Amino acid sequence: MEQAVIDKVKELIKQAKRVCILTGAGVSAESGISTFREAQDGKGLWSQYDPKQLASLDGFLQDPEKVWQWYQWRREVNQDKKPNPAHITIAQWQKQAKASGKQEVTLVTQNVDGLHQQAGSDPEKYEVVDIHGNIWQNHCLQCGEKHLEDVTGVQQVPECKSCGGQVRPSVVWFGEALDEKKWQAAETAAFCCDLFLSIGTSSQVYPAAGLMMLAKSQGAKIVEINPEPTQSSVIDYQIKGKAGIMLSKVVS
Ligand code: OAD
Repeated sequence: MEQAVIDKVKELIKQAKRVCILTGAGVSAESGISTFREAQDGKGLWSQYDPKQLASLDGFLQDPEKVWQWYQWRREVNQDKKPNPAHITIAQWQKQAKASGKQEVTLVTQNVDGLHQQAGSDPEKYEVVDIHGNIWQNHCLQCGEKHLEDVTGVQQVPECKSCGGQVRPSVVWFGEALDEKKWQAAETAAFCCDLFLSIGTSSQVYPAAGLMMLAKSQGAKIVEINPEPTQSSVIDYQIKGKAGIMLSKVVS
């Protein structure tokens, strides 16, 4: 790793007025959560499971139990996972930036695991915008009502008490629109930032992957942190390495 790149990114972080951070599954890898597309070790979820079946409305309508149980299994796997230094560094950075009043740091995450929130990034204050939803929440497919009851161990698709519809996990599936308010917040953060950090994402899934281009079009500097750098041509600085280790080197 070139020290010069680290030093440059450190400087950019110090000087930026508005920072937009986009995170993906790689940021939770050091917490022991599988990414989606890392096929090499056979651990990427989409190399073992079919996203068309398990992450689409059609898949759910065809076999609701199968899809529900798969999310129940993912919840079980994720339930004892803890935020790692990457989540914690970002949350602390946000608190310090807010306290100083000199910098605004907005975090947009594609992750549904809730670890940024656990680390202290507050969704209510738009410190973290979870554009792909949250695996710990459920809502009714039919009437949209939120279902807050504990579903631990429930293996059959719960029925909505209000309308009798099927309850589903509140994650965005392929082909579904993102929540409009969240997406607006994400676009605004990317549009207005002077520094954009893309961390732990393969940048293959749109519209999230387009945020980097939006930021670049407005003159922001683009930094990527990833042990397997992506091919995106809009990146100004690539830091090859794990999110937890590299973030603590560049964020003072
Ligand atoms: P991917 O699985 O596509 O990519 C994970 C990225 O993390 C890869 O580029 C890895 O090289 C990188 N990575 C692995 N370990 C890392 C570490 N310790 N530190 C930093 N980076 C590391 O995951 P996403 O880009 O998040 O959508 O995938 C985007 C969306 O596709 C997900 O939100 C999900 C999925 O289908 C939905 O569920 C809607």
